[in-house]
Amino acid sequence: MPPAVRIENLTKHYFLESVAVRALRGVTLTVNHGEFVAIMGPSGSGKSTLLNLLGCLDRPTSGRYILGDDDVSRMNDDRLSEIRSRYLGFIFQSYNLLPQYTVVENIEIPLLYQGCRINEKTRSRCIQLADLVGLADRLEHRPMQLSGGQQQRVAIARALVNDPHVILADEPTGNLDSKTSDEIMQMLIRLNAAGKTIIMVTHENDIAAWAKRVIRMRDGVIEADEPNAQPRTAQEVSSAFVSTLNSLMSASMR
Ligand SMILES: Nc1ncnc2c1ncn2[C@@H]1O[C@H](COP(=O)(O)OP(=O)(O)O)[C@@H](O)[C@H]1O
Ligand SMILES: [Mg+2]
Repeated sequence: MPPAVRIENLTKHYFLESVAVRALRGVTLTVNHGEFVAIMGPSGSGKSTLLNLLGCLDRPTSGRYILGDDDVSRMNDDRLSEIRSRYLGFIFQSYNLLPQYTVVENIEIPLLYQGCRINEKTRSRCIQLADLVGLADRLEHRPMQLSGGQQQRVAIARALVNDPHVILADEPTGNLDSKTSDEIMQMLIRLNAAGKTIIMVTHENDIAAWAKRVIRMRDGVIEADEPNAQPRTAQEVSSAFVSTLNSLMSASMR
């Protein structure tokens, strides 16, 4: 099996009034399936730029990006958005839910982007995903009626709906108190235990401490890349959770 993602000598320059900002200055990185990676580094070090490139939300200035079997570095916009909606799940600091839609409808959104028709089967899978993240009794709520932690759970279920190869999270607990942050991290740990590959940006040591591998960036390059010898201990992941998630994933809606 190829790695989940492989980038080679990736650079990204932004041009501001003909002055180049060299946000990434040659990043090479391989992430294998099943890894849980935290990307750390001071503000401005290029973390979000890297995550955006990994998420096919932007294009590199130079270098190569291979996502699974596909070289995405030179794909056109249509192919890129197809790859994005098929293979990637996103979790953002500010949840990015659509306020006018219910919990279940928000979870369905990536399916709509993929041109998938919503029917009883897809609806029932989204309800099961909501259940899996602990929102079975909130299906008809709208984002405004949910706590921050609950909104992030919706975003997690939404990130799962396409059975993504990789889940990308940018400061997923940045707006949450520490107890709720821990709950969200426990949820990510469970997904990882069930086989999901996770790449997460955070500037908090407490949050990176959950990951199995920690990458540190500085000035647009990787400064350190080390396994986390002692990740924070998570609650035991029940085999029921793993098998429910895997059966939901294999009943893929593609
Ligand atoms: N759209 C943009 N246009 C110009 N410069 C940008 C843009 N986005 C980021 N930068 C610059 O690139 C560098 C890296 O930014 P970013 O990836 O957001 O860092 P981090 O997420 O680590 O804080 C910073 O110097 C930032 O000012
Ligand atoms: Mg950032």
